[in-house]
Amino acid sequence: LKPTLIDAITQDNADEIAHLKNQFEIPAGKIYLDGNSLGPVSISAKHAALEVVQQQWGNDLISSWNKHSWIDLPINTGEKIAKLVGAEPGQLICCDSISVNLFKILHCALQLNPKRSLVLSQEDNFPTDLYVAQGLQRILGVEHCSLLTTSDTDIENQLTEKVAVLLLTHVNFRSGKTYDIEKVTRAAHAKGIIVIWDLAHSVGVLPLALDEWQVDFAVGCGYKYLNGGPGAPAFIYAADRHQNSFLQPLQGWMGHMAPFDFSKKYSPSQGMTQFLSGTPPVISMSVLNSALDIFDHVSIGQIRHKAIALMNFFNELKQASPELDELQLISPKSANDRGSQLAYSHPDAYSICQNLIARNVIADFRRPDVLRLGFSPLFLSFQNIYTSVTELSSILKSKSYRAQQFTAKQKVT
Ligand SMILES: Cc1ncc(COP(=O)(O)O)c(C=O)c1O
Repeated sequence: LKPTLIDAITQDNADEIAHLKNQFEIPAGKIYLDGNSLGPVSISAKHAALEVVQQQWGNDLISSWNKHSWIDLPINTGEKIAKLVGAEPGQLICCDSISVNLFKILHCALQLNPKRSLVLSQEDNFPTDLYVAQGLQRILGVEHCSLLTTSDTDIENQLTEKVAVLLLTHVNFRSGKTYDIEKVTRAAHAKGIIVIWDLAHSVGVLPLALDEWQVDFAVGCGYKYLNGGPGAPAFIYAADRHQNSFLQPLQGWMGHMAPFDFSKKYSPSQGMTQFLSGTPPVISMSVLNSALDIFDHVSIGQIRHKAIALMNFFNELKQASPELDELQLISPKSANDRGSQLAYSHPDAYSICQNLIARNVIADFRRPDVLRLGFSPLFLSFQNIYTSVTELSSILKSKSYRAQQFTAKQKVT
């Protein structure tokens, strides 16, 4: 039996975190199924942007480095994120982008395994992860860094004593398929391999226990489920036990043990500040820092519980709508094996997505033929899901997506 709008309302009424959507400013009438790509602005993030520009920068000028603790933002913001990934203090710092951070920690991870050179990764990893490894390979030479990629089902077979570093993304950016971090990390460690996890699509939406799972290094993103704003800084997790065993390659003054001594020789800071290179982006980091406060009011368990319920509701509606059969699920069937997204292939996925956007349901498209729907539980309701499926059904039934205005590709898809 197809769920009805009344069913959606009933689920919304029972949703114990439904009130959190009031902390976001989603434009009236829009349904945002793209929080997995760029989280929306929260009221506290918007206030932080005004506060840091008008009051701190505006009134207090350079004294804000001390007065408003700008200098400690990378650590303070990192510690807020640490609570979301199961990390004890002193192991996480907010800085740079995932790409830059991966460059730093991949180099560090290779130093921990100096007799080996192979970096093993999944062939459909997010491209930046592969580009960074290819770049290091070019700089260091294949005898020190050599990228090997394979299918995600073959990764565990390839864990041999030749591999120095296993570099994996926890949630596949297209399909949403997840790895079991604990199991894969244990298998890699049994072969002496150092493991780096890219948590871009995990942090803020999936339960993580990096310390307990003995993860070596991780990186993650500030602008997706953490709602830090476009280009918000990313983060690095480095397990305590490794922190004195490498030198990170992007040496800069902010990673020096005493930046304001202006000494001519580089001496790295201890702990996580060694990962800093240049001046932190204070405005965007302040916005991210404030956006993280919403997690004081909700547990990751509650978020995950609602994400699964939203995806199940979507699936029930889809299954009862034969006109949607053309959309082929490429995400794992079981919610336990996927992150907070559903992905469908369709030859006209791009136009369908554009047509949806024109009807105020914002999803995204990933080449070659994937319609990707993100389920961010902090601001989505079951009624939003009901309306999204209604619009999708109408688009596929009427074939309205074939109109010319929906087929032209834009620069950012
Ligand atoms: C899995 C994954 N890693 C890395 C990135 C890129 O991160 P950044 O832009 O911070 O370098 C993305 C962006 O979507 C991603 O999905």
